[in-house]
Amino acid sequence: MEAIEQAKTLEAKALSEIENSGDEVSLERAFNAYLSKKGQIAGLMSLMKDIPPEDKAIFGQAVNGAKKMIGEAYEAKRKEFEGKALSEKLATEKIDISLPGATLAQGHINPYYQIIDEVSDIFLDMGYEVVEGRDVETDHYNFELLNVPKDHPSRDMQDTFYISDELLLRTQTSAAQAHTMGERKGLSPIRMICPGKAYRRDDDDMTHSHQFAQIEGLVVDKNISIANLKATLDLFVKKMFGEKREIRLRSSYFPFTEPSVEVDVSCFNCGGKGCSMCKGTGWIEILGAGMVNPKVLEMCGYDSKVWSGFAFGVGVERVAILRYGIDDIRRFYQNDARFLKDYIGK
Ligand code: PHE
Repeated sequence: MEAIEQAKTLEAKALSEIENSGDEVSLERAFNAYLSKKGQIAGLMSLMKDIPPEDKAIFGQAVNGAKKMIGEAYEAKRKEFEGKALSEKLATEKIDISLPGATLAQGHINPYYQIIDEVSDIFLDMGYEVVEGRDVETDHYNFELLNVPKDHPSRDMQDTFYISDELLLRTQTSAAQAHTMGERKGLSPIRMICPGKAYRRDDDDMTHSHQFAQIEGLVVDKNISIANLKATLDLFVKKMFGEKREIRLRSSYFPFTEPSVEVDVSCFNCGGKGCSMCKGTGWIEILGAGMVNPKVLEMCGYDSKVWSGFAFGVGVERVAILRYGIDDIRRFYQNDARFLKDYIGK
C-alpha cells in the first residue's frame, strides 16, 4: 500500500534527520517538521479518510509506529544534548573549594550587656533572682520610700528628667528595692538583683552620661549582718575581677542604708602597689552599699525588729570601663560597630 510506504519513508527520513542534527536548534527544527501539530506525521494522519476501511488499521499502526519511533529518537537526542551541555558547564565552571568563603557579619553583645550577664550569672549562682524594674518611676518609689523626702538635700545630686511633679526617669535602680519589698508585703525573705538603666541630669563628658546602668542588689532576711554583706561582695569581686582581689569598705552616706559604705577593690592593674588606674592609691571604688535602713524596711512593709538586710548598687559602665580599659563612657551609647568589635567576648 502506497500510504504505508509513505509512512515508512517519512519515518526513515525523520530518524536520520534527528540523528544527524548537530545542535539543539536543528533538533527542534526536525521536531517541528515531523511531530508538531502541523508536522508531517499529522499530515499523514489526514490521509486516513481516503484509505479503504480494511486497510485503515494497518495504516494507523504504521503512522503511530512512526510517530513513536520519531518521538523516542527526538527524546534521546534531546537528552544527549542536555547531558553534553551539563558536562561542558561542569568542565568550565570549576569551583575551587579551597578559596575562603564569603564572610558574614556577625552580631555581638554590647560590652555593657556582657557585664550585666556576667554579674547576673554570679548572683544567680548564689541563689538570687533577677527582677525587672521600670525606667519611669514615681517620686514615691525613687525617693520617698528610700528615705529621701521632698526637699531632702541629697536630691540635689540626683536631679533627673521629670515627666510631671510625681513622675520621673529613675535616678537609681534602688527604686526596685522599694517595689520588691512592697510586693512581698513584709512576709518573705528577698535575694534579688535588678539590672537596669538610670538617668540623671548631667552634662555628658568622658566620665558622665545622662543615662547609665546600675545593678541593684537587695537581701532581706532574719539575722542579716554587715558580715554577710562583706562576704557577698568579696565573693562577687573575686568572681568578677579575679581570685586575688581584695575589698575594703569605707564609711559613706546613703539615705536608704545605715550604716552605708563605699566599696573599693584592690587595683587589678598594679595589684595594689599604686598606678595611674588607681590614681596611686592601690584601690578602685566600684560600688555603694550598706545595711537597709530600718526606716526603709518599715516604710516598705517589713518589721525592722524581725527583719534586716543589705543592699548594694554597682555601676555597670564603671565595671566595663575598668574591665576593658574603655576610655569614654559615651562609647557605650554611640552604636559604633568598631567599638563593639573591639570588646567581643573579652
Ligand atoms: N543607689 C545608690 C547610687 O545610685 C547606690 C546604692 C545602692 C547604695 C544600694 C547603697 C545601696 O549611688
